[in-house]
Amino acid sequence: MPLKKLGGSSRKVMKYSPFKELSMPQSLVLPRPFDAHVHFRQGEMMDTAVKAISEYFAEGLVMPNTDPPVSQPGDIKLYRASIMAAADNEHFHPLMTFKILPDTSPSDICLFRNAGAVAGKVYPKNMTTNSHDGVENYPALFEVFEAMQEKNLVLCLHGEHPGEDIDTLDRERKFLRILALIARSFPRLRIVMEHISCRQSVETVLALPENVAASITVHHLVLTNDDVYGQNHHFCRPVIKKRSDRKALVQAATSGCPKFFFGSDSAPHSREKKECPVSCAGVFAPGIVSLPRLAQLFDENNALKSLERFLGHNGRRFYQLPDDPKKLPSLALIKEKSAIASDMGGVVPLCAGQTLPWRLET
Ligand code: NCD
Ligand code: ZN
Repeated sequence: MPLKKLGGSSRKVMKYSPFKELSMPQSLVLPRPFDAHVHFRQGEMMDTAVKAISEYFAEGLVMPNTDPPVSQPGDIKLYRASIMAAADNEHFHPLMTFKILPDTSPSDICLFRNAGAVAGKVYPKNMTTNSHDGVENYPALFEVFEAMQEKNLVLCLHGEHPGEDIDTLDRERKFLRILALIARSFPRLRIVMEHISCRQSVETVLALPENVAASITVHHLVLTNDDVYGQNHHFCRPVIKKRSDRKALVQAATSGCPKFFFGSDSAPHSREKKECPVSCAGVFAPGIVSLPRLAQLFDENNALKSLERFLGHNGRRFYQLPDDPKKLPSLALIKEKSAIASDMGGVVPLCAGQTLPWRLET
């Protein structure tokens, strides 16, 4: 194209180009975020799992589905100490949870709280990683929920209906009746429907009172079921659903509504356990991937102004955590390309091998 067509005169073009080279990329400085759902694992996997979150987030809500589970009051302090050792980072605070089993006693709730737990988590039996000891009968746990309400602990629910003869794709939608029953029975109990994956969950969480909120992962916001077939690294529970579901999730996340906040559900499994005939469920979503990918999504939806609420403020408010941005270390998201590794410590992350349009700077 002739120069004068570009700028109107060759002089203008000459003047313009050096400034374009020097122009600053778009950037956002945020307080370090809160990841409201992480798996830190044990043993060899722990270092990779912990550092993937602790290097970028101020707090992470630590899931208790280790093997053996974090299900006794005495487990809380031990697991927390091993996480702190792996993180080796004074800026990171693990927030501890305990696994609620069918035989969890209401009298233990006070002990869990005194040990420093902020939440208890219910897994439906046999629905996800290490859930053979999960729950089938929710009303049988109502005394435990009552005690949690009295002690101001949060109830985290993996919201999929257990039992035979239900299509996997329908399990979350069918669970919403159980969610509504618990929410109505315990109006002062704070309840989080974890990693929601369908439109009906968004609608139900919005319709229920203020004590009910939901976390959303980055993979449920950017993938659809078409990205899962034949791709074990995208297989997780609840399974990723349709475009219409993703649209509802994106609307909820970008709306700024205080009921929705980020929980990565970063769930590393070794390459061998994913690339095999029967894959483990879980997507590995380290901060170096999730945060630039969310910046891209919010940017594409003209919602960058809501990103801080989704990544920090909304979750901290619900979990009653200190929320003074001035007291938190910061990180920057910059609209410049970043390449995502195809393997991180023997685990394949979300967006493996891709180049993202945003990059993270700590
Ligand atoms: C999680 C895991 O691997 O621990 N897997 C998953 O698919 N999300 C467990 C869970 O949160 O369901
Ligand atoms: Zn999880």
